[in-house]
Amino acid sequence: MTDQLISPEAVIDRQPLDETGSGTIELTGVTKKFGANPVFADLDLLIPDGSFTVLVGPSGCGKSTMLRAIAGLEGVDAGQIHIGGREVTTVPARDRKLAMVFQDFALYPHMTVEKNITFGLRLQARHDKNGPTPADIRSRTAEVVEMLGLSGLEQRMPSQLSGGQQQRVALARAIVKRPRAFLMDEPLSSLDAKLRGETRAELVRLHRQLGTTFVYVTHDQLEALSMATRLIVLDGGRISQAGAPDEVYTRPANMFVAAFVGTPPMNFHEVDIHSAAAGSVIAGEGIVGRLDARSLPGRVFLGWRPGHGTLGDSGEVEVTGQVDVVEHLGDTKQVTCVHGDQRWVVVVPATTACAPGQPLRVSVPAERVHLFDAVTRQRIDPAP
Ligand SMILES: Nc1ncnc2c1ncn2[C@@H]1O[C@H](COP(=O)(O)OP(=O)(O)O)[C@@H](O)[C@H]1O
Ligand SMILES: [Mg+2]
Repeated sequence: MTDQLISPEAVIDRQPLDETGSGTIELTGVTKKFGANPVFADLDLLIPDGSFTVLVGPSGCGKSTMLRAIAGLEGVDAGQIHIGGREVTTVPARDRKLAMVFQDFALYPHMTVEKNITFGLRLQARHDKNGPTPADIRSRTAEVVEMLGLSGLEQRMPSQLSGGQQQRVALARAIVKRPRAFLMDEPLSSLDAKLRGETRAELVRLHRQLGTTFVYVTHDQLEALSMATRLIVLDGGRISQAGAPDEVYTRPANMFVAAFVGTPPMNFHEVDIHSAAAGSVIAGEGIVGRLDARSLPGRVFLGWRPGHGTLGDSGEVEVTGQVDVVEHLGDTKQVTCVHGDQRWVVVVPATTACAPGQPLRVSVPAERVHLFDAVTRQRIDPAP
């Protein structure tokens, strides 16, 4: 909401590009409050140079505030921020050499594409004797116009462009400044689904081409999983888990991450585990099974992903229920089942016959089962 009030020239790098400048961003013990309410407190965060780091979490968890603190658009109440090894905690936004791309890309409506792209550089040239020369501006502009497929559109006005083209001009305007890092706050959320998918792929390609740090904020976990080289899952201003996307997906550190990342979300059952001769025996509402592991606590949450259940009884854990809702998704069907108070979802091939009211039994292999402490809700990795 406040994002669109920030004009792009607020974050122009006025100094000549420091070619050796690294795009590592580090927050140490950072606290940010609005009034008495901390959005986050004593936060440590590392964004490696050259990474495509995605900050993902539900609405209101503090993602935008974090990004704006990195950009210097918000001050912080405690802690330090380093960019490229240099402390910038109190350095104004325009001197942090970062470029910010917002959801509302806010091009200047009265300027051509070319003028929009070169605006920052021209301003820099005027105010800084070490700024870019007209020849620099021309060659850098030609480079980004080519990179973003904007050739031939240079003299158009923004109103003569499609939404996707406008978004590319906004990116070109950021890239031409050669920032140390790109900060993006939900930049795709105003695009339609098709364009969003295309732009997603384009951003991944751009990142690979530029090799510059990208810090990308979204509430959309699918977007986060598909783009990130490093994923940071936030829960109410705290880092719930940070790691490679496949690691976060396959080994969620706690139930919050397990429930937040993945579509449809993971199923959970509260179960009792007893030691037995050959391992552990599991029992709960509509669920039975065995695991090789011993020495598990008595009461845990057992989780499994809807795509990891198969019809029949070939897995170590068996879940039963009655079909409630069947949703057709093209090649697959998403089936919601109930057993007492327990609800669970399984994704099966579209050819599977199944109708509401019918009993369903699904097997989950032991290696696809996730266990979480019933009290702390943290992941348990059972000793074999
Ligand atoms: N300028 C502000 N003044 C007071 N509270 C704010 C301000 N900006 C954000 N907040 C609050 O801080 C929290 C985090 O907001 P925000 O960073 O925008 O979350 P997100 O981007 O994850 O949705 C929310 O509770 C929000 O209401
Ligand atoms: Mg936000």
